[in-house]
Amino acid sequence: MSHQVVGLGQCALDLLGTLSRYPGVDEKAELHEVLIQGGGPVATALVALCRLGVETAFWGRVGDDDFGEKIRSGLEGEGVDCSGLLSDSGRTSQVAFIAVEGGSAHRNIFWHRGSARPLEPDEVDPGILGAAQVLHLDGLQRGASLAAARIARSRGLITVLDGGTFREGTEELLPLIDHPVVSERFARSLCPDDPLRAVDLLLYRGGLAATVTLGALGSHTGSREGERFHQPAFLVDAVDTTGCGDVFHGGYIFGLLQGWPLKRVVRFAAACAALKARKLGGRTAIPTLAEAEAFLAERVDA
Ligand SMILES: Nc1ncnc2c1ncn2[C@@H]1O[C@H](COP(=O)(O)OP(=O)(O)OP(=O)(O)O)[C@@H](O)[C@H]1O
Ligand SMILES: [Mg+2]
Repeated sequence: MSHQVVGLGQCALDLLGTLSRYPGVDEKAELHEVLIQGGGPVATALVALCRLGVETAFWGRVGDDDFGEKIRSGLEGEGVDCSGLLSDSGRTSQVAFIAVEGGSAHRNIFWHRGSARPLEPDEVDPGILGAAQVLHLDGLQRGASLAAARIARSRGLITVLDGGTFREGTEELLPLIDHPVVSERFARSLCPDDPLRAVDLLLYRGGLAATVTLGALGSHTGSREGERFHQPAFLVDAVDTTGCGDVFHGGYIFGLLQGWPLKRVVRFAAACAALKARKLGGRTAIPTLAEAEAFLAERVDA
């Protein structure tokens, strides 16, 4: 198999709508734009990598319902190999309603877990890793994530974690992760008063480089060699920030595959995430490589 990146994680179907202002309780609001699109941190990062020209494969599980079919076809339509995406008979897929407030780009997410079971460690087929260079995880599906990370380590793959929430099993997973790239929420679980200190803690727990992302405030990165820097977010007319973090990870992994210096990796990731924010949906405006390069060439502000 020729995948360069294999991802294991949660996937969902997003039902998105844009409104002018959030309604009060018992009020109605008209949606100006609606969209149904696949989501999930690792799944959307793999879509970003496909747009950038990288071959990817996804491990996960959906229910055998219509939502699961849409999740699968959304990934396959982008070129993600879904031979490792299992379907749980008689169970339902994860789904989210996302209400985006136009102008502010704030969003409220209402989500349902679904009843599809997490992947089990013995369902992680080492064959899918093939000749991959990177394994990308979101830390959900604890047992399977640990099993995959151990196999990846034994084969010398680079491991990347999208840490959204610090959860049960995260502590065990961190020593197996080369590049933890985590949300502010995750960082505050480690260091409630100073999320940036989480960079040091993540390096201490085994990371080669660690990043905390702070939404429109950009991100902070540190490396084991002692490098430290802030990458501002690129200023764009943000319509919807759903999936910015996911796409940041896709761009970051792309940079790792190129062997770029860390600063270039993170700047590229920030550009991909900013470009994504131009349209409704986690995936709609994910750039191609040519678009990302053209954007970076003309932007000296960040
Ligand atoms: N409004 C914005 N404009 C430009 N870039 C943004 C904006 N919001 C986020 N980004 C970029 O995306 C990166 C990741 O965003 P964020 O920290 O919100 O991720 P997250 O917490 O994982 O969110 P999610 O998982 O919901 O996408 C930021 O560091 C920044 O580079
Ligand atoms: Mg995230």
